[in-house]
Amino acid sequence: MEQPAWRELPAAQGSFTLLQLTDTHLRPDPELLFGRIDTWALTLAALKEAERFRPDAVVVTGDLADCCSEIYDDAARLLDHAAAKLGCPVITLPGNHDVPAREAGLFNRGRAANGPGPGETVHFLGGLRIITLDSDDPGRPAGILSAEQLDWLRDELATPAPQGTVLALHHPPVESTLPLLAGRGLASPQLLRSVIAGTDVRGILCGHYHHAQSGWLGSVPVWVGPAVACNPPAPGSADTSDSSWISVIRLGPDSFRAAPVLVSAGMPAATASNSSAQAFGLPPGVVGVPEGAPELSELKLINPDLDKIAAGQDAAVEKFNSLLD
Ligand SMILES: [Fe+2]
Repeated sequence: MEQPAWRELPAAQGSFTLLQLTDTHLRPDPELLFGRIDTWALTLAALKEAERFRPDAVVVTGDLADCCSEIYDDAARLLDHAAAKLGCPVITLPGNHDVPAREAGLFNRGRAANGPGPGETVHFLGGLRIITLDSDDPGRPAGILSAEQLDWLRDELATPAPQGTVLALHHPPVESTLPLLAGRGLASPQLLRSVIAGTDVRGILCGHYHHAQSGWLGSVPVWVGPAVACNPPAPGSADTSDSSWISVIRLGPDSFRAAPVLVSAGMPAATASNSSAQAFGLPPGVVGVPEGAPELSELKLINPDLDKIAAGQDAAVEKFNSLLD
């Protein structure tokens, strides 16, 4: 499929809305993650939810696949369709479960420049620049940015963008608040901190932790998005369900705001059906979901009235938007 043309934003536009999806952990259909989580159904629901916010771009911050599963052709069809449906680019970068070389030829075809590896790309939304980085260090729990990657980033940032820059990488340059995840963020974050100090970088988007978290790298805000697939309940919680989330990021002329948005409060053992794919406007069979499987509406979506959402008639969304604007 040809890369769809997306909305051209004027360079002087000072406000942007980014929708972040992270850690979708797609498995070859009809396999379920952990035998019970339908990652395709959740990703479809997440993209449907993204429509509500009329984003200027969707950023997928890694672990598009689960365990290097060969899902990339189907995922590219889905994300191409989402870009056309949403009227904005869908930007991806690799996580520790991904195969960067497989992603390179399928995604980010609207990029303005490449970096030293397939995970390093540069994009412009009008005057806003988004730079992706591949932070995976295969076989090791922590992420890493090489001297080559950091040198390239330093060179890119030497020329400021009219509306500033957002960085996106999988491994957060801040430690998780969960002791369980200690040592699983970006190793040596001070190296990245020194590269971005004094530049136009106004925010950093990450994933990987499968829980929401904010932080700072020097004077730059960091947002760790909760996962589309599998956010385990807190230890000791009576809730035994995994939840599914996206994040909305609002960039004003001098502000960076991020909030998690619940897509599904729980994931029963269900599989997507062709009709659930069609709820997002996908042609039948685009993700190869089986006929006769349970409906997407069986998921505990916050607002299951997809038609109403698509028509922009959701009063709750309007209220939420007014709080953020
Ligand atoms: Fe993940």
